Amino acid sequence: MPFNLNVNGKTVTVDVPGEMPLLWALRDVLNLKGTKYGCGIAQCGACTVHVDGVASRSCSIPVSTVGNKKVTTIEGLSTDGRHPVQIAWQDVDVPQCGYCQAGQIMTAAALLAKTPKPSDEQISTGMSGNLCRCGTYVRIHEAVKRAAGLPTAPRTTQTARAAAE
Ligand code: FES
Ligand code: FES
Repeated sequence: MPFNLNVNGKTVTVDVPGEMPLLWALRDVLNLKGTKYGCGIAQCGACTVHVDGVASRSCSIPVSTVGNKKVTTIEGLSTDGRHPVQIAWQDVDVPQCGYCQAGQIMTAAALLAKTPKPSDEQISTGMSGNLCRCGTYVRIHEAVKRAAGLPTAPRTTQTARAAAE
């Protein structure tokens, strides 16, 4: 059955079963592969996109329920990869394997849109639903603070760490 979706500012039509998770429509029909499948049961955050600006688990949203809400994926977060969260992520060298990172970035961007100057506790709470098997949590926390323009400890980039080893 065809459904019109608003994805990254464009109206697109997907002809899929209504119960299909939004994640599959994004990845397999619209070829937006930045959003990842992790658990499929709303437990890991790898599939996080924005739905009307709210960080949402696309693995657990049936396409039939999306309607005309605005869906933003990592591909649509900025036109040039220069969203403040993306810049901070690069500055801090956050990713390790990278698999969870699109979800992390989308959650961080939604957090900062709602709370531009979050406390450490608000960052920890806001990011707590996004799991990272590589354990990049300290760098994620630092990058969120940098994106918010908050003071951080002296940078320890992967390059600096490698040089120190
Ligand atoms: S894949 Fe959606 S929360 Fe894990
Ligand atoms: S960077 Fe590997 S799972 Fe997060």
